[in-house]
Amino acid sequence: MSIIYDEKYKTITLHTRNTTYQMQIDRYGFLLHLYYGKTAEGCMDYLLTYYDRGFSGNPYEAETDRTYSMDALPQEFPSLGTGDYRTPACIIKNTDRTYASDFRYVSHTIKEGKYSLPGLPAVYADTDEAQTLEVVLADPVTGVQAVLLYGVLPQYDVITRSVKIVNASKGHISVKKLAPACLDLVGGAYDFITFYGRHAMERNCQRMPVGHGVAKIGSLRGTSSHQYNPAVILAEHDATEDAGSCYAMTFVYSGGFQSEAGQDQYYQTRLLMGMSEEQFAYPLNPGEQFQSPEVILSYSSEGLSKLSQNMHRCIRSHLCRGKYKETVRPILLNSWEASYFDFTGDSLLALAQQAADLGIEMFVLDDGWFGKRDSDMRGLGDWVVNEEKLGCTLGELIEKINGMGLKFGIWIEPEMVNEDSDLYREHPDWAFVIPGRRPNRSRYQLVLDFSRKEVVDYIYEKICAVLDQGNVEYVKWDMNRSLADIYSATADSQGRVLHDYVLGLYDFLERLVDRYPDILIEGCSGGGGRFDAGMLYYTPQIWCSDNTDPIDRLEIQYGTSFIYPASSVGAHVSASPNHQTGRLTSMKTRGMVAMAGTFGYELNLNELSAEDKEEIRRQIAEYKKYAALVQRGDYYRLTNPQTDNQGAWEFVSEDRKEALVQVVGIRKHANMTVDYIKVRGLKENTMYRDTETGMLYNSTALREVGVPKPVLEGEYQAYQWHFVCED
Ligand code: GLA
Repeated sequence: MSIIYDEKYKTITLHTRNTTYQMQIDRYGFLLHLYYGKTAEGCMDYLLTYYDRGFSGNPYEAETDRTYSMDALPQEFPSLGTGDYRTPACIIKNTDRTYASDFRYVSHTIKEGKYSLPGLPAVYADTDEAQTLEVVLADPVTGVQAVLLYGVLPQYDVITRSVKIVNASKGHISVKKLAPACLDLVGGAYDFITFYGRHAMERNCQRMPVGHGVAKIGSLRGTSSHQYNPAVILAEHDATEDAGSCYAMTFVYSGGFQSEAGQDQYYQTRLLMGMSEEQFAYPLNPGEQFQSPEVILSYSSEGLSKLSQNMHRCIRSHLCRGKYKETVRPILLNSWEASYFDFTGDSLLALAQQAADLGIEMFVLDDGWFGKRDSDMRGLGDWVVNEEKLGCTLGELIEKINGMGLKFGIWIEPEMVNEDSDLYREHPDWAFVIPGRRPNRSRYQLVLDFSRKEVVDYIYEKICAVLDQGNVEYVKWDMNRSLADIYSATADSQGRVLHDYVLGLYDFLERLVDRYPDILIEGCSGGGGRFDAGMLYYTPQIWCSDNTDPIDRLEIQYGTSFIYPASSVGAHVSASPNHQTGRLTSMKTRGMVAMAGTFGYELNLNELSAEDKEEIRRQIAEYKKYAALVQRGDYYRLTNPQTDNQGAWEFVSEDRKEALVQVVGIRKHANMTVDYIKVRGLKENTMYRDTETGMLYNSTALREVGVPKPVLEGEYQAYQWHFVCED
């Protein structure tokens, strides 16, 4: 049993393989948080302390007891109105226009299997792999209910949380704030690790101490965003990659979000993850309910690598879906950086032929194949194949490409419209524009109102009509601007539109996945602007960044790896000099960095030297050898490329008999010192052979001292060791 209710102590305890989470229904019906950490048995309510604390009020039923205050007690779902002045997880505007909620325990149930969420992405599991706890809380005055859902996946050290607000009151209410995950920790001193960035430089890792005052990250962009990722970590100050306590929260949601971390007046830490409060006021009539997206939580007492591995395993095998979720993905060539908008059917075929000759497995036709789309100024919304440009039908083009032994994939951007398009001329009200205001433009495009079903239905039909023209085996779903001018002509309340937009997006994706179960969909939003666990439910890989420079990618992929598995990280070899930075790097270095993801190419192969082509052939053979290990192995960050002399990472097989260590040098000096790369995750004191050189290494020495990185001429050199256990 992973969920246990103890009648005597009124505790509900959730056990995973290595962790325990405990809550208690206290004497007044409040649901208090007791513990989340390393496996622990028994009742932990001794952790609660009671003192008379000035200006921390007391619930009425505590009568003259001034030591009982919600202002200091750790809670599962704090709201406004109970005397807790810390940041709440929930704010409801009641029928009487007040903002107080006082949620008390009503009942709970424990079920086999993991709950699912209608219309929303969520972790899934077989009935015997997970259990669900449902706790019903209600405000005795308004009748409004908060139904807390906990999914427990013991083998993955993962707990998921979601909240359903049920308007069981007699009038209209609105949900103003909702954070399905709250973690109140009475002890400890933590750092808040977040992933910030910008277009073409996403998910840089920032680690800062949690102090007094609330540190808040989030996105007001209607998408999860390049600027902050909806995943955070709370790590003890001294936690490292392989030691110390740390917690992760990953939001399974692709819209605006916020995460808040702060210490209260008694140095207790609260961490919240939920939906963005801005422009959010979800209306609920009597009887209606609002289901929040879910948050995946994990805890590791063995440092950050273990925490990441927990998330990777769960996302890879219990969130990603479809034929490709655990299989090695086809090696693709994408046409974007090869020719941008400037192509003809013949030039595409010439590129495809080169790809086929080199051993690439799939050709992806990126932007520019539809409507009048010869630049980014026009055409979005007109999902009609430009046969004049292709010189043939799409079906014919695909047949020719298939005839070369390549699969075929295509780029789409369904959520957008250019003002210069037939669609916009016909349906100007389908784009987000506030009446009386001129809209914000971004990349010359406006956002279609996907909160409206008729808009989603229309685009869906058009996209399917394209996909039905031939043997399409891959789709790149792009989204190239942030939302603005939020106004929906048909919505009863504008405070629901941003969330309904995300539901519209998910509805479209679900229908697509259902209708084309064999198509591999890659998510994209100007690279990694919507790189989140919500999208991964539909698209098992996401284009990690529009920045294909391998040295910048070291940092981007480093930050991404804290939460997301390598199998989800879209990574391509592109041209040198790089189109984003102008940096020169070798084909070998570019290949190694791309191999730490889904691996593909995005450059004009016709312009390559014979030597580079030979290197590509070698790379492809090598990738095939290691792809399964990269996709399913345990991932270790061996250095921090933000501060170290090199980017280094490692994939270790589950049985620990095999490991691939990859290193790219960053800074170069004359008369260099030797860097030792410490190798982790191998069996203790065991001999391993590097299959590339045949040399033998002791695993304990590899961990304690490391493998010396050869000093080579030139910058940005790539190094690799493939260790196989001698036993
Ligand atoms: C975005 C994507 C790119 C490419 C272009 C096409 O920027 O991230 O990979 O598909 O759009 O317009």
